[in-house]
This record gives sequence, C-alpha cells and structure tokens, in this order.
Amino acid sequence: MQSLVRLFSQAFHTEPLLVRSPGRINLLGEHTDYNEGFVLPAAIDKFAYVAVQKRADNRVVLLAADLNEQVETTLDAVKPVKQSWCNYILGVTQQFLLNKYPLGGYNLAVSSNIPVGAGLSSSAALACATAYALNELFECGVDKLTLAKFAQAAEHTFAGVQCGIMDQFASLFGRKNHVILLDCRSMEYEYVPLHLKAHELVLVDSGVKHALASSAYNQRRKECEEGVRIISRHYASVKSLRDVAPEQVDECLSGHSLLHKRCKYVVEENQRVTGACHDLVHDHIDAFGKKMVQTHRGLQVLYEVSCSELDFLVDKAISLPGVSGARMMGGGFGGCTLNLLFSEYVDQVIGMVASAYSEKYGRVPAVYRVKTADGTTIVPLPA
Ligand code: GLA
Repeated sequence: MQSLVRLFSQAFHTEPLLVRSPGRINLLGEHTDYNEGFVLPAAIDKFAYVAVQKRADNRVVLLAADLNEQVETTLDAVKPVKQSWCNYILGVTQQFLLNKYPLGGYNLAVSSNIPVGAGLSSSAALACATAYALNELFECGVDKLTLAKFAQAAEHTFAGVQCGIMDQFASLFGRKNHVILLDCRSMEYEYVPLHLKAHELVLVDSGVKHALASSAYNQRRKECEEGVRIISRHYASVKSLRDVAPEQVDECLSGHSLLHKRCKYVVEENQRVTGACHDLVHDHIDAFGKKMVQTHRGLQVLYEVSCSELDFLVDKAISLPGVSGARMMGGGFGGCTLNLLFSEYVDQVIGMVASAYSEKYGRVPAVYRVKTADGTTIVPLPA
C-alpha cells in the first residue's frame, strides 16, 4: 500500500485517493447467482488497492505496480485492450460514461495481494475498487448496488464472462465476522454472524488456472436458461430455476439428460443455502460441513465444473480427522478448495493434504488461512 502510494506520487506528482476492495470466499451457493438464487459469500482480508487522481485532460493513464506495466488511452476511446487487468478498469469507466456520469481524465495505479486465478475474485475486487474510487473522485453519487452492477457489466462486456452478481456484491458489501445471505433475485440481503468457535476456514489452491473457465461458464449459464425454457412450457409461472422444485426438474427434463443434471444441481443448491444458514446460526457446523461436501459432489457430477486436482484435494481432506467439510469454490475448473477444519487440526490436515497433492501433481499447493473483512472502502494515506 505504501509503495503503491509512493509509485503514484512519483509518477503523477500528486497525492492520490486510495481505495481498497476485498476478494471473497463463498461458503455455499455456487452457480446460483445467475439463476436468481441464493448465495452465502464473505469478503476476505486480501485486497485490490487503487490509487487515483483527476487529470486536467481526458486521458486515462493506468499503472499496474505489480506488473510494471503502463497503458494509456482517452475517455472517448475506451475499449477492451490486451492487458486483461486494464479491462476491469476500462469496463467500469465505460459504464459511468454510458450512464452519463461526468467523468474526466484520470491517473490510476493498482496493486493487489489477491492471488489471481485462485477463484477469490481478484478481478471483481479490482473492478469494485475502481468503481468506488471513480464514484468518489468525480462525485457521481452512485449507490453501492449500482456500483456492483457496473463492475459486473464490465466483466460481461470487457472480459466476456457472463458472471452473476455475487463477487461484486461481496466485495462492496462485505462485513467483518459476517457472511452475506444474498437473494440474487430481489437483491435483498442479510448479514449472518460467522462465529466459528472451534473451526477455521482454510483455502488450498490447486494452482490450476482455469483456461476453459469463461467459455464453459457461459455455456452452463445457457444450459440453465434452456432448462428454464423447457420447464416454463409446462409451468408458465417459472421464470428462473429459483421458481423450480426438484420434482419439476424430474418431470419436465427427464428426456434431456444434460439439462436435467445441470438444473437438478442448481435447484438442490438453492435448498442447501437456506439450510446452511440455519446450520450456521444454530452452530450446527457438522451439518454445514456435510452440505459443503454435497455441493462439491453436485458441482463434480451434475454441473461438471470441477477437475481432477480439485476432486483430489477434497477427497483427501475429507478422509482425514479434523475435517468437517471441503469443496471446490467459485466458478470451477481450477482455483481453490474451501476447507472447514477444527482449529487444532489445521496444521496436521494442511500438511497431509499438501504432501499428498505434491506427490501426485508435483507441486506444493499454496494455502491461505483467511479471515473475513469489511467491503470496499477509502483508505487514509499512510503518514
Ligand atoms: C464466478 C462468478 C460468480 C458466480 C461463481 C459461481 O465467481 O463470477 O458470479 O457465478 O463463479 O458461483
């Protein structure tokens, strides 16, 4: 953070506005957001930082401190570029412009400690930090939910991923020691206290970077929409998988085995999120952990977004004492598993999972012991 501010001041000879936005984990509710369902994410203590200040002209100058890259454009020429990190910033910028907010040129430097490609939403954090910072800098008065939608739209238009709203919402709205129960249809949300007395959440990074993820992700989204189209021919009130009961999936999609699998997973996952919240509130951690494993099996067998490395990490973890639950997390095809462990077993479990993984795949997985954190905020400049 200090070196980002120093870099900004040296490059642009002025003090920046500094904003940080967190990455996220998701306890339960995977691939439900774009089906108007429920999710249960939390912001974590890893952040994307942006330092930003106005310019007198209409240029946009972007600096990536961690990559030592600089990209320049002008406000009237904002379009996707080959440096992917820029696209989250420029995509958000375009949303302000399309919605007629009075943006001017700006300088922006970015640095992040959220691992990229680990399924922790480093890109959403960057887009949210940018949206929050530009909103402050140019005094646009946009509310946080709209900022989340700008960041989501940036991902759709400049990165080509038809993602849901979960990651951006979690990054902007996160609250320390809480998970967010978000209804992705009404956008109503509730903060659920996360008091894991004897447990800890630990991420194990498969190190697999999801190359196929965006096309497969968009494909899953289409399959769900196709399932809804078929079901709604029988039940006119069905607008999304949110409205569908498990029996309706069986009844209407029995002749469509692929769509049946996809929709069955989503419908069951929505039910699990509701139950999982009850488990958390009543401290039924074992029951919660079991649901995590059910979710993993659903993602592995029905939704087919896991991979052998993730399956291995989960299977190994749940075979060990001290493990209440484990599952792949996020969009899939790589990234991290989320593990719910008894605190006193963490070192032992992580040691055994890591050594089994490195024996099989030839590399030691990174491990992150994450804590929940507050959402996007302005950071006072270091003295
Ligand atoms: C990615 C997307 C989210 C969500 C998850 C899967 O993280 O950005 O919107 O769909 O995958 O739950």
